Parts: sequence; C-alpha cells; structure tokens
Amino acid sequence: MNILEIIAKKRDGEKLSKEEIDFFVKNYTNGVVTDYQAAALVMAIYIQGMDYEETTNLTLAMAKSGEVLDLSELGMVVDKHSTGGIGDKITLILMPIIAAIGIPAAKMSGRGLGFTGGTIDKLESIPGYNTSISIEKFINNVKNIGISLMGQTLNLAPADKKLYALRDTISCVESIPLIASSIMSKKIAAGAEKICLEVTVGSGAFMKNVEDATKLSETMIGIGKLANKETICVLTNMNEPIGYSIGNSLEVIEAVEALKGNMKDDVKAIILELGSYMIKLAGKGENIEENKKLILEKINNGEALAKFKELVQNQGGDVSYIEDTSKFEHAKYIIPVVSNKSGYVKTMNNEKIGYISCNLGAGRMKKDDEINNKVGIIIEKKIGDKIEVGDILGYIYADDENIGNKAVTDLIECYELSNEFVEKQKHILGIIK
Ligand code: URA
Repeated sequence: MNILEIIAKKRDGEKLSKEEIDFFVKNYTNGVVTDYQAAALVMAIYIQGMDYEETTNLTLAMAKSGEVLDLSELGMVVDKHSTGGIGDKITLILMPIIAAIGIPAAKMSGRGLGFTGGTIDKLESIPGYNTSISIEKFINNVKNIGISLMGQTLNLAPADKKLYALRDTISCVESIPLIASSIMSKKIAAGAEKICLEVTVGSGAFMKNVEDATKLSETMIGIGKLANKETICVLTNMNEPIGYSIGNSLEVIEAVEALKGNMKDDVKAIILELGSYMIKLAGKGENIEENKKLILEKINNGEALAKFKELVQNQGGDVSYIEDTSKFEHAKYIIPVVSNKSGYVKTMNNEKIGYISCNLGAGRMKKDDEINNKVGIIIEKKIGDKIEVGDILGYIYADDENIGNKAVTDLIECYELSNEFVEKQKHILGIIK
C-alpha cells in the first residue's frame, strides 16, 4: 500500500478501505507520511467527503492511535463536549452540578485555538489551579470528591492532535466527516461510557445552519453506537456569544455567578437541557422536566457552588478567588463600547467577536501563543435588543490601550442594526438522539 495511491483514490472521489485509512493514520502519526501528503489527503476528504463507514473507520483508527483510558471503575461516567463557541463556559458550570447530583464528573478538556476558547485556559486563570495532574490523581479525585477537570496530559488520540493542527493551517476544519471523527476519536479514547455533545450552530460555530449540525450530530451518534457509547446531541445557538463574558477570568467570574443562580437566559437554557440529558444518560432520571428541577435545586441550595469550590481547592487553586471574585486582577483598561446608531440588533458577527477577544490576548492564533487571563469582552447587548445612540454595547478589557481602542471599533462593526423589530434568538435548536 502506498500513500500516493490513497491520496489519488480520494482525490478522484473513490471510497477508502479500512486498511487504507488505518495505513494513513498509523503512518501519519509516526511521521512516515509527511505533513504535505496528509494535507493533500485531508483536502481531498474535505472536497470529496467520506461516507459513514469511512468516517467510522477514521474515528476508530484515530482513537486507537494513542492511549485509551478506562474509567469503568468510576461507574457510569458521562462525558460532555462542545463543538466550540464564543464565551462557552458551560463545562465550568455544568460539571459541578452533575457532581453535586452524584454522577461522577471526570472530564478532560482542551485549550482554545483560533476564535474559540478552551476550558483549560479558563480554569488556569484561577491562581494555583493545576490542570496537568496525573491520571491516578484524576481518578482518585473523582472517587474522593466526585469531580476532576484536567487537561489532556495523556497521549489520547495523537493522530487527531496532529490532523486537527494541520486542518487548522489549511482551512479544512469545517468538514462533517473530519469534525465528527476528530471529536468522537477523543471521546472514545477518553473512556466515558456515554457522551453528551453540545453541537453549536451559527455565525460563531463551525456548523453555520441546523441542517449541517443535524448531519454532524447524526454522524457522531452513529459512530457512538458502533463504539458502544450512547451519544446525544443538543444543538445550541452560536449566532451570539453564550452569556455575557468572553475571556478567561471574566468567564470564570460569570460561571461562579451562574452557580449562585445568577444566569443569563441562554446559559440557563443550555445548562438545563444538556444537564438533564446527562442525568438521563447516567441512568439517574428518565423524566427531562424532573431532571431540570433537580438541577435548579442543586443551584438554589448552594451544593453546586460548594462542589465547584471543592474542585478548585482539591486541584490546588486558591478558593478565596471563588469566594470573592473581585480578587481576580482586572485588565489595565476597561473601555466602554458606545453605539453611534439606534435600532434593533439584527445580527452579531460572532466569529469576529471571537477573533477580537483573541487579538486582545484572551486566545491564541498559534498553539504556542501566551494567554492573558485578564483581557476580554463584556457583552451588554445581544440580538433583539433595542439600542439608542449613546447606549453601551459592551466593554473591552485590554492591557494595551491601542489594541483596546482597535477592539472597540471592531466590536461596533460586529453589530448589524435594523429599524424593524427583531425577535430574540432561540437558545436550543434541537435534540438529536
Ligand atoms: N472540535 C474538535 O475537537 N475537532 C474538530 O474538528 C472541531 C471541533
């Protein structure tokens, strides 16, 4: 078998066999297949697509390319994953709630790249919080206090790590077979029994419409079935940022507020929907409405916030920052973004908002870029809000005045206003099982 034949086959629209996919994944992981050969094949897959069998074979080959974790000793672990978004702090809020309910919350998260943020960067904005603990400690934490959130220290799905970084540099991220296999290979290798996926849809997501998001969801659910991991997808709206903050410590502060019960409608809708399906998958409640009530109870009685504090303390974080979030150091400049027009917010360029936050230093364009935890954006107005001239659209948190001022101009450009009334956005766009 040789890589040139495999590339040519896919280039010409033919189907790849399991052996050919295994050959490519194995030899790309060990460096025999070069980046430029892999780039050619990935571009061919992007253009020609892959059928369901090929996508499943690619997923399983990538899942087996490194270590595969076994979490069965923890009981019924339900993993949660988002396909990526702007201001997505859902994991920080949801996992302590799940743990407070008594479901083992063992989750490995990633770092942010490009316009989307990463949970691990957010957690690391809490002074002392250690995201790179050993697997033994990770498992022991879950046994002892019911929760651990860590980065990917294990060599999980290294083929995906390489391929994802490559796709990012050749404009080949937005492909259903490539996204489905990337996510599911990591989830299969991470060892959870069941999987709940937040599939984001809209201008700040890889899937721009519900039809494509449904196809992606159905592909991932099908792969989950074959791998014996029941999977449910919740389609969430990403035409505007989730909640009101974007940036690492700003999002931790919002997450703490949410755990106290102070949640924006969109955050609340996503937490209730995803959480109630995670409870169902864990076998702890068949009735979705009852599950939602249970989640609210765990927030209102303070158990969810107490669990978050326990998590932070247990992983070396300074819990006094959670008790008093005003302790988080602020950016040097907090600049209001003032509207010079009136009307209803019709659209927000959410992807651009992600890039503005990245340019401020809250995210990274290249994988080795340094993150600045203090900077970011606070959003005051979203789609459907009425705006008068002089109203504040949001605030830019910047450490550099020039970069901050540029972000102000850029954020204003992200808002498209209309003279006509505009409905508020729906937050949950579908459940695919
Ligand atoms: N998230 C992933 O993990 N992989 C993708 O390809 C896209 C989003």
